[in-house]
Amino acid sequence: MHSILVTGGCGFIGSNFIRCLLTESGFSGRVVNVDKLTYAGNPENLTDIAEQFPDRYVFVRADICDRSAMTDVFARFAIDAVCHFAAESHVDRSIVAPEGFIKTNVDGTFTLLEVARERADRLMLFHHVSTDEVYGSLGPEGYFSEETAYRPNSPYSASKAASDHLVRAYHHTYGLPVTISNCTNNYGPFQFPEKLIPLMILNAAEGKPLPVYGQGRNVRDWLHVMDHCRAVWAIMQGGKRGETYNIGGRCELANIDAVALICDLLDEILPDAALGPRRGLITFVKDRPGHDLRYAIDSRKIERDLGWTPQVTFETGLRQTIQWYLGHRAWVQRVRTGEYQRWVQQHYGNG
Ligand code: NAD
Ligand code: DAU
Repeated sequence: MHSILVTGGCGFIGSNFIRCLLTESGFSGRVVNVDKLTYAGNPENLTDIAEQFPDRYVFVRADICDRSAMTDVFARFAIDAVCHFAAESHVDRSIVAPEGFIKTNVDGTFTLLEVARERADRLMLFHHVSTDEVYGSLGPEGYFSEETAYRPNSPYSASKAASDHLVRAYHHTYGLPVTISNCTNNYGPFQFPEKLIPLMILNAAEGKPLPVYGQGRNVRDWLHVMDHCRAVWAIMQGGKRGETYNIGGRCELANIDAVALICDLLDEILPDAALGPRRGLITFVKDRPGHDLRYAIDSRKIERDLGWTPQVTFETGLRQTIQWYLGHRAWVQRVRTGEYQRWVQQHYGNG
């Protein structure tokens, strides 16, 4: 692989992946980051990388649904591998406004696959990044394996499931060299503060209410974003074409316990006598419609076949993540006010 197209590289996981590729993976080629810069895409996440690697990092603002733009990117940069992160990713938004999820996650993936198929002569790999949510919801027992039947429950997970099926079909029908990964909940630096962990960190730091859906008994399996990035790279290097790999953190927590831990760590890192123990900020709010009860991944396949295991324990990773958000107030401020979106408009126009 000499020229890797990373889609959605200005988002949370994509930007961490590009950082991982260029600074620690051993990859010596070029990274082409294609991102539409939706509300979730922030070029500031990679400012230092763009400065440090002017010859090996290229950013192109484009929509993955735009076929001629994608064709141009593949040709112009002699793309020989794809790592596809770009998606609408927030479940709550998919419940309120599903259309954009179908557009980007289904049509966008289809467009990329079509362009990749045209370039099959030089394409070594199309890696598709997906989610454990395609498997639906677990009861208190059991795990999702690569063989678990798809049973998506939200417009978001249904759109991701559709994209997974397309990727698989392009391998089966056209022989496109694909791999797929289905990962559990990520946390870490640069996550947009609409998701549970950064939202709770920032609200707790500022003494604001912590809105826990329902009774907080829903369970998620947490993985540090860098462990996810290393897993994706391990699959891109050694994964068998046509195969799916599940990636999990072996770290199941009920939401209420995750939020309580955030409160306790912040009480220690940022004591505020006037506030009292931050657990007192926890507020139970109306549940998410169709809220999946539990996700848990059986990741024995990637551990056995590719030698990957998570390196970062939840408490260590959470502590570092809290420190990161406390140390990046200006980033938080710009993201919250939408200031970076104004900057994007000035630099790139509206679309
Ligand atoms: P994110 O919302 O932080 O980032 C998505 C990125 O995609 C943004 O930079 C956005 O601008 C870009 N994008 C959106 N629509 C686009 C389009 N039409 N064309 C080009 N770019 C577009 O998402 P994330 O949390 O980093 O997730 C990345 C991928 O990983 C997604 O495919 C998601 O389904 C998957 N995933 C996420 C998690 C998680 O916990 N966050 C877990 C498992 C899998
Ligand atoms: O499992 C992987 C998925 O994890 C990814 O595919 C998605 O892109 C990613 O957004 C994430 O989905 P979740 O819905 O699990 O993540 P979220 O951070 O939105 O919510 C985590 C849990 O916390 C979930 O049970 C809902 C709950 N929650 C969330 C928010 C934002 C709350 O209780 N309160 C909140 O304010």
